[in-house]
Amino acid sequence: MNSSILHKAQEAGIIQVTLNNIRDYATDKHHVTDEPPYGGGGGMILKPDSIFTAVEAIDPSVREGALDSTSRSDKTPIILLTPQGRLFNQKIAAELAKRERLILICGRYEGVDERVRQHLVTDELSIGDYVLTGGELAAMILIDSVTRLLPGSLGAAGAADRDSHASGLLEGPHYTRPEIFRSWRVPHVLRSGHSAQIERWRREQSLRRTWLRRPELLLNAPLDEEYKIYLATLAQEVQMGPSNA
Ligand code: 6GU
Repeated sequence: MNSSILHKAQEAGIIQVTLNNIRDYATDKHHVTDEPPYGGGGGMILKPDSIFTAVEAIDPSVREGALDSTSRSDKTPIILLTPQGRLFNQKIAAELAKRERLILICGRYEGVDERVRQHLVTDELSIGDYVLTGGELAAMILIDSVTRLLPGSLGAAGAADRDSHASGLLEGPHYTRPEIFRSWRVPHVLRSGHSAQIERWRREQSLRRTWLRRPELLLNAPLDEEYKIYLATLAQEVQMGPSNA
């Protein structure tokens, strides 16, 4: 949080991040936040009490709405980071970027008491199909990807709207100087100065790369007729042999 773009975004007041340790909200002498599961089995489960108290301290409106999750839909999202959550993606990042405030709860150990899920949390997110030791790294990833979508955070040079995934497609190749590096040339069209041709080439490269690497993304990508035709040509080309891939 204290380097590069995330650091600058905090300095500039674009985001504010506070860390709340649930241990500080435990009322017993030893600040116990986890216990073995009822019914036996291994591992430890995060207790509900200090998680509820922590979130209620951060956002007192939680307490009134605690029993009615639908009435909270326009209020601060309370997101549990867990491998069982909805798969986080760019679309969700863009939705979260519109919110004034987010409360992120990082799961730990074998998991959290189910009552946290049922009566406190409004959404559960996972960053991928693998298991981390805790939700903290997932929260960092969420914060990073949301922050860079906020106006001003990338500075003049950066633009999030061209990103891979922003349009539902992967980005195509990029080149910079020198024009010839170890005999490998930059594609001629990029040196042509012909902006319509460059735009078309980039769109085709983006489609090509998406087709070859992540074809399932094309199912949901908005494509106009011209590019559907391009994709059909590409499909034929790929069928003809690997030399074209
Ligand atoms: Cl959000 N938490 C944990 N513990 N593991 C994960 C995850 C989250 N997303 C993928 N794996």
